[in-house]
Amino acid sequence: MYYEIVPMDRSHIPQIAALERECFSTPWTENMLEDALFDSQASFIVAEAEDGSILGYAGLHVIVDEGYIDNIAVEEAARRHGVASALLDVYCRFGAVNLAFLTLEVRKSNLPAIALYEKFGFQQAGLRPGYYQRPREDAVIMTREFHHEAP
Ligand code: COA
Repeated sequence: MYYEIVPMDRSHIPQIAALERECFSTPWTENMLEDALFDSQASFIVAEAEDGSILGYAGLHVIVDEGYIDNIAVEEAARRHGVASALLDVYCRFGAVNLAFLTLEVRKSNLPAIALYEKFGFQQAGLRPGYYQRPREDAVIMTREFHHEAP
């Protein structure tokens, strides 16, 4: 499967919003994604196939040296081919150089996503009871810390 990881631009937004609606009960809208384009703390990336179609995408917000992963989603037909891993690897390599930690929330029942994050060295750091709606469910907080040598 051939694709490139590229920064999100405006042309990607309708496809990403459609992917959000397929994957999540409270999806990000086109307006929310567009705001991210102009948010200097946000870095959204896309796995783009040769024909311009989107196989997956991910979003990160950085606040000083803290990284918050907003979302990661891959088209159902493209799953289990390493697309999410390629997206997450970008953030982990950035984090290893620039961040104290990367963190995210995930539904307690989302075992594929939890397995993905564990593979990338994220550890379960706590629960947010009732964090998600539709259906109501606890969030697992998963965090990967990066240890930097003192200068
Ligand atoms: N069951 C168990 N483990 C899984 C899995 C599944 N269905 N899907 C991924 N994993 C784990 C495996 O360890 C896998 O490594 P392996 O294939 O060598 O066994 C590893 O994650 C990497 O998988 P990868 O192919 O990179 O993931 P993907 O491109 O299929 O995307 C998701 C994974 C979770 C992003 C995808 O299933 C998805 O979009 N789900 C719906 C949206 C979602 O839940 N996003 C997360 C919100 S927090």
